[in-house]
Amino acid sequence: MTGDTAHAPRGDYSRMRPDYTVEQEWSDYTAAEHDLWRRLYARQAALVPKYACREFIDSLAALDSAAAIPRLEAVNARLGKATRWALVGVPGLLPDLAFFEHLANRRFPVTVWLRKPEEFDYIVEPDVFHDFFGHVPLLFDPVFADYLEAYGRGGLKAHALGAIEMLARLYWYTVEFGLIDTPAGLRAYGAGILSSGGELPYCIESGEPNRIGFDLLRIMRTRYKIDTFQETYFVIREFRELFEATAPDFAPYYAKLRGAGLIAPGETLAGDRLAVTPR
Ligand code: PHE
Ligand code: FE
Repeated sequence: MTGDTAHAPRGDYSRMRPDYTVEQEWSDYTAAEHDLWRRLYARQAALVPKYACREFIDSLAALDSAAAIPRLEAVNARLGKATRWALVGVPGLLPDLAFFEHLANRRFPVTVWLRKPEEFDYIVEPDVFHDFFGHVPLLFDPVFADYLEAYGRGGLKAHALGAIEMLARLYWYTVEFGLIDTPAGLRAYGAGILSSGGELPYCIESGEPNRIGFDLLRIMRTRYKIDTFQETYFVIREFRELFEATAPDFAPYYAKLRGAGLIAPGETLAGDRLAVTPR
C-alpha cells in the first residue's frame, strides 16, 4: 500500500510490467546483501519465540530462510500448495488499486530490494526483509490467507466508495501492527512489528502503549503514525475473529463512519474493551 510517504518511492519502476511486477533478479544480490539479510534475520529470529504468535513461528521455521535472501520462486512452490497464494516481485510501494488487485487474486507483492546497512534498525519504506520476514509466514495460515484476499476485494470496493483511508487503517492495525491474545500470552502477528527489532519487544512488554480489544469500527476511525512506535495496538483473539468481523458489507459502515470524528493515535475511549482476557 502506498502509505503516506512524503518522498518519491525509491525502487526502480522503469522495468515493471503493467501490473507493477518485476523479476526478482536473484543472482544480482551481492554477497554483502545476503550477509545483511543474515544479520537482520538472526536478530528477528531470536525475538520470535518469545513475542510472535504460534502460526508465525511455525511457518517461519518451515521457510528455512535464515541463510540468504530467499528466491520468491522457490517459496511459491510451497505457498501455492499450502494456501494458493503466490509471491510477486515489485519495485516498492504500489498505488492502492494495483495493490488491492494483487491481494484480491491471492498474489502478495514483495519488494525486491534490500535496505542499506545503515538502515539496519529502521527503514521508512518496506524492503524485501520487511515484506518477506514480516508478511510471508502468515500467508501459510488458511484463515489469515482468506482474510487478506477478502481485504483485497474490500479495497477495490472501498476505492469505488471513496473509503480507502478507513480501510487502510484496518490494514495498519491488523496486518501491520496486530496483536493476538494466545494461551501463551500476548503475541504479535502484524508484519510491521514482527520485522522490527525495537518494536517487537516494545509492543508486548512496554507499559506505554494502549492495547485495546479488536473493534472494527473504532479501528477504521483511528489515525496512526508511520514514523514512531505505535501508541495503540488492537488485540484479536483468533484469526477467525478478524475474518468474521470483516465479512459483512462495509458500505453502511463507511456511511456511518463518515459522520463520526477521527480518533487520535494515543487516545482511549470510555467504551474501549480491555485487551487481554484474564486467565
Ligand atoms: N466485507 C468488506 C466489504 O464489504 C470487505 C472486507 C473484507 C474488508 C475483509 C476488509 C477485510 O467491504
Ligand atoms: Fe507491510
